[in-house]
Amino acid sequence: MTRRVRKAIFPVGGLGTRFLPATKAMPKEMLPVVDKPLIQYAVEEARAAGIEEFIFVTGRGKSAIEDHFDFSYELDRVLSERGRTADLAAIKAMLLRPGQVAYIRQQEPLGLGHAVWCARNLVDDEPIAVLLADDLILAQTPCLKQMLDAYTGGNLVAAMEVPREQVSRYGVLDIGAESGQRVEIKGIVEKPTPEAAPSNLCVIGRYVLDPGIFDELGRLDRGAGGEVQLTDALARMIGRVPFHAHRFEGRRFDCGDKVGFFEANLAFALEREDLGAACRAVLGRYAKVGASRSKG
Ligand code: UTP
Repeated sequence: MTRRVRKAIFPVGGLGTRFLPATKAMPKEMLPVVDKPLIQYAVEEARAAGIEEFIFVTGRGKSAIEDHFDFSYELDRVLSERGRTADLAAIKAMLLRPGQVAYIRQQEPLGLGHAVWCARNLVDDEPIAVLLADDLILAQTPCLKQMLDAYTGGNLVAAMEVPREQVSRYGVLDIGAESGQRVEIKGIVEKPTPEAAPSNLCVIGRYVLDPGIFDELGRLDRGAGGEVQLTDALARMIGRVPFHAHRFEGRRFDCGDKVGFFEANLAFALEREDLGAACRAVLGRYAKVGASRSKG
């Protein structure tokens, strides 16, 4: 029987250099899409998938993330005094309870694989979910839930096709047999050139990992970009445990990138009942300006 996935790791130790200067003193994962930080979307997605324990791998300058999920006495009192019951309920609902959450320091941003390895002592012999908050996914069924519903053991990654010329930003999959959304994986390579890539099916930041991953990561071998790559550990496990990709349903936004982040804000605002119409009107005005500029 497949073991239930109860714990999730949120690696938030990266420096977010593509978002400087915004990320100089503020974690990239606290950037808001409309009015909610990226990390909160990821935590809500994990909760919706039944995750009960939340492990954040953080670094220096990331304490805003801890504060965000903690009780705020002043805010609680002020909202109560002002009778803001709906806001108060929303704030209470997003708190992570004592014992349900742990924060570990990565100390040095040595790569995603290293960040995941830092959580090893908080995980028993059980499969574990990993979510990267900068991959934001708008979906009817949250992406991690789709994956856990399909999970039958081993390693499972979320995947989508990207244009060939963009594959060198991703972990790229060598594909075997396919059945519905499930793809058997024969190989994986981190950030290959378009010519060397085995396909254009790429890994997106959602993983369900066999606990054997921690021993593999413990070698701390450096891969692409001189970083300890999760991709390399996954590649070494092929043949020992099942490895599949899940072609998820939904729209993914790369919020580690400025244009992706801008598009996420547009898409999420347009979806909102309270903001959609007003945002559409603004967008209409800018579309006209854009059209007249491109003509001129
Ligand atoms: P990125 O590759 O986007 O790196 O990491 P980054 O440092 O955050 O951003 P840029 O490229 O400098 O702008 C993908 C995810 O892995 C985490 C990041 O926090 C992000 O969620 N990560 C990366 C770590 O936790 N530790 C690391 O050493 C590297």
